[in-house]
Amino acid sequence: MSIKHNDIVFSGVQPTGSLHLGNYLGAMKNFVDLQTKMTSIYCVVDLHAITVFKKPSELRDNILETTAGFLACGLDFKKSIIFNQSSVSGHSELAWILNCIARVGWMNRMTQFKEKAGSNKENASVGLYIYPNLMAADILLYKATHVPVGDDQKQHLELARDIAQKFNNDFNNSNFFPLPEPLIQKNISRVMSLRDGKKKMSKSDDSEYSRIGLDDSEDEIKKKIKKAKTDSLPIPGNLLDLKNRPEALNLLNIYSFLTNSKLENTLKLMEGKDFSKFKNELSDVIISTICPIGKKNK
Ligand code: TRP
Repeated sequence: MSIKHNDIVFSGVQPTGSLHLGNYLGAMKNFVDLQTKMTSIYCVVDLHAITVFKKPSELRDNILETTAGFLACGLDFKKSIIFNQSSVSGHSELAWILNCIARVGWMNRMTQFKEKAGSNKENASVGLYIYPNLMAADILLYKATHVPVGDDQKQHLELARDIAQKFNNDFNNSNFFPLPEPLIQKNISRVMSLRDGKKKMSKSDDSEYSRIGLDDSEDEIKKKIKKAKTDSLPIPGNLLDLKNRPEALNLLNIYSFLTNSKLENTLKLMEGKDFSKFKNELSDVIISTICPIGKKNK
């Protein structure tokens, strides 16, 4: 990536309370790295959070907890701009204008709305439907050029580019909004649930055993990794043999990312081991990364 002096990074994280390993590996680690490279703006997106009902007192606590998580992971307000979305009214104001640029047909193609609204579409909030326009406003308000996001947000970012382009065309100003580019991490796109390798690790999963919290104790981490779903086969030596083994792939991915190695190299190292042995090593690397963060968070 070549960096120009007017490059700006923007990203948003929903205030779900304390952060988990998926947030750390999928987002925070990258944010911390980027803040030393270009102007970086990180936002706790509380207006996105209220697209589904939230108790006000819980939302308030969650905003503080997520912000504390940002700082504990290494975001530094001397290097980055860190703030809460609703404290800057421009997000809502630009979102309205962008609502008038985006087309209904574009919104109807958003797969995340379909997933989140499920079979109860008629009863979903209008906010949930136009949520991607608010996300576009977040980014375009600062004329951000780069947006670190997970795989699941790629479609929303493409929409933000389409909106920027249509706005520039409609108002004959081809450079008004830069077209923001996604920064998707190469080695890891998603950390999956420890109970189901096809589902993203998420705060909304009912089972605590599906995720590792950044403030989990050593014992909790060991217990959760021990219980993490795997299969009865040993660790294979090549990527192809991991096909259709999503839980095995997930644990090996987490290990690779935490040890800064390629998945191929982890496989070479671990080939033939059974998962119970591998899990001990995995717990150790998770503990050595996560527990110092958890302590800072307290
Ligand atoms: N929609 C993102 C998510 O759920 C959060 C988000 C809101 C965001 N605004 C953003 C991400 C702007 C990147 C840029 O994860």
